[in-house]
Amino acid sequence: MGNRKLFAGNWKMHGLAAPAQATIAELEALQPEPPCDVLICPPATLIRQLAGGPFPIGGQDCHWDASGAHTGDISAEMLADAGAVAVILGHSERRQDHGETDDVVARKVAAAWRAGLAAIVCVGETEAERDAGRTLARVQAQLAGSIPDGGAPATLTVAYEPVWAIGTGRTASPDEIAEVHDFVRGALRDRFGPEAGDAVRILYGGSVKPGNAVDIMTVSNVDGALVGGASLAARDAAAIMSAAAG
Ligand code: PGA
Repeated sequence: MGNRKLFAGNWKMHGLAAPAQATIAELEALQPEPPCDVLICPPATLIRQLAGGPFPIGGQDCHWDASGAHTGDISAEMLADAGAVAVILGHSERRQDHGETDDVVARKVAAAWRAGLAAIVCVGETEAERDAGRTLARVQAQLAGSIPDGGAPATLTVAYEPVWAIGTGRTASPDEIAEVHDFVRGALRDRFGPEAGDAVRILYGGSVKPGNAVDIMTVSNVDGALVGGASLAARDAAAIMSAAAG
């Protein structure tokens, strides 16, 4: 029996107060009782506004310290205080734009757990790494380096997001997804034991949309999706949730 699937929407740097509220209202009208777990990760400025609404809300990043002299940063405690229940960490856009290393990501994951947030830890290879046959080695290194000890199914989700598939319209094939997800499952079982390793959800991310969602959701060891662009349109998000039923 597989895990209940999770639809996690990553709004990235999109969203102002009024249209965001309208998107959530439309999504609730389309999916009053979604057939999967749902998490919406809007920009931090919208967390307090959207928390307490129909869907659980998450952040997209946090600092590793609880407070301090870090201009422009937001701590895990602040996300929790604003109403977030989870946070995406180590997204490839953070790794690229802000030079986040595995070590930095691991410190942020520990901070999320300290603040009572679940962590969605992103891993994935670049196109050059895939072409060089280094996909699994890259993912293994990221898993080992980005996830501190203490992970448990309730507080840890892994998202496999091949960098070349994010926002490009290119999606990994079901075979490519299965190879990496099966590998991640094995690594999680080795690290946390078979029971916990099986219960940690593994999401796929990278150009998931209504037209490919069923094919992706039915791949072995795919426990849901981390959805960027398509999560901004309520109709598309609702259709992907429907694909995550069962
Ligand atoms: P995308 O983004 O669905 O727009 O490809 C996914 C992500 O970056 O989480």
